[in-house]
This record gives sequence, C-alpha cells and structure tokens, in this order.
Amino acid sequence: MELIDYFKKAQKENWAIGQFNFTTDEQLKGIIDAAKKLNSPIILGTSEGESQFLGLKKIKVLVDAFRDESDIPIFLNLDHGKNLDYIREAIKIGYNCVHFDGSDLCLEDNIKKTKNIVKLAFKKGVLVEGEVGIIGGKLTDPKEAKEFVQKTRVDILAVNIGTVHGGKAKIDFKRLAEIKKAVNDTPLVLHGGSGVNSTDIKKAIELGIVKININTELRLAWRKNMEEILKKDKNEIKPYKILTPLSEQIKKVVENKIKLFGSENKA
Ligand code: G3H
Ligand code: ZN
Repeated sequence: MELIDYFKKAQKENWAIGQFNFTTDEQLKGIIDAAKKLNSPIILGTSEGESQFLGLKKIKVLVDAFRDESDIPIFLNLDHGKNLDYIREAIKIGYNCVHFDGSDLCLEDNIKKTKNIVKLAFKKGVLVEGEVGIIGGKLTDPKEAKEFVQKTRVDILAVNIGTVHGGKAKIDFKRLAEIKKAVNDTPLVLHGGSGVNSTDIKKAIELGIVKININTELRLAWRKNMEEILKKDKNEIKPYKILTPLSEQIKKVVENKIKLFGSENKA
C-alpha cells in the first residue's frame, strides 16, 4: 500500500500515522524499532535543517537500508520545506512526501507556489503536504483551507488549530470540525504534536486528523537520556555502548505515541 492509501485507511478507521523527526542514526533506529515491534506504518520526518546534517542522499540510503530489513511500511517526508530548490532535490532523491510550508506567504502566493510543487511531485509519484495558517501563529481559516485544497489539489493539509512547535497546545476543536467539513476528504495533519495531551490527541483524531508530527518530545528524550547515560558511566568511550540504550529510550517514546495514535497493527 502507498502512503496515500494509509491516509485513506486511517481516515476511514479513525486512527493516525505518526511522523517522527530525526537527525541521526540512533534516533532512526529507535523510531523504526518501535514501529516494527508494534507493526505500525510510520513516517520519518526531516526538516531542511535536520536533513542538512546528514544530507538528503545519505538519509535516503539509510532509510532504504532500514526499510530493507523490516516488513513494515516506512515513508519519508521533507518537513517544513521552504526552499523550492531543496524541495525539488528531495523529490528527485526519492522522498515519499514533501511538505511545502508557504504559511508565511499570502494565500494567493501560497497557492501559486504550492501548485508548482504539486505539479512537480505528481510526475514522480510524490505526495505534497500543504499548509494554511501558521503553526503557533495564525489559526487556519476554514474558507481559506477550502480554497487552498481546491486550487492546489494537495494530497494532505497541515492546519493550525492551536498547536505550537515545542509548546503547549490549546486546541480549537470547533475550528477543526469546520475545517474538516470545508475540505471534505483531504487528510488533515496536526503539527506541534509534542505539546498535545492524550485526550486532545484522541479527540483530534476523531474529528479527522490522520497525521501527527512529533519532534520536540524525541529531542528532549535524546538529550535527557544522553546526559543520564554519560553521567552513569563517566569512563565509557565506545559510541555503540552509549548509543544503544539511547535508541531504546527513543523507542519507548515512539511506542507510546503509536499506541495513542491507534496505528498499532495497521501496517
Ligand atoms: O513538523 C514537526 C512538528 O510539527 C513537530 O512539533 O516539535 O512540537 O513535536 P513538536
Ligand atoms: Zn511542524
């Protein structure tokens, strides 16, 4: 099944696929091990900054290697792409999905640029995530969302219903229901997933969210556990001895999210 089929399935059955961002190999291992254990489809996210650390090409090769060793669906998304050349590169290299974040543009320009990317991505069978509203800023206007999806034909839509990247959310569920009604079957994406409590996550899924992005919680787990591991054994110098338990901790965080999102056994 392709990624779009998983979104449709999630929409029909009321669950969501997690997008988990990573920069390094031990994070990637933890995320994929969790998905393998729970037989869940998974989206791996890299922002422009995150992907510049390893480079798009190496990321693709690394993810392909993990994919070859597992029998769960693993998809790769360029998160918050703003630079058109960089997005083009990700499409060329073989990302499954690209998120064009034109949220700081006026609606007209956002539509224009997103349309160009959709055209490009469509030829390569790559999905496009568009964005209306600004995460942590302007809330998504349902009317604008409707116009945006009709004119751009994006595959999925990121909306701001009160979440903040790395901060605490105050979700406007009424708005979410209105957006859902306005955009019909276009799958909806919730950014800033780390700051949303479990009850609100479940309610958001019930109201039509099918993709949830998690980053900050994984970064915090990485930092906290790295510090603890290094503190526990001050003399350890073998990276694999330090990084193996670190991957384990990341795996635990992702396992909890997969269970919460309801994507367990949906691979
Ligand atoms: O695009 C990435 C996400 O929106 C992550 O948000 O860092 O609050 O989990 P978060
Ligand atoms: Zn985001």
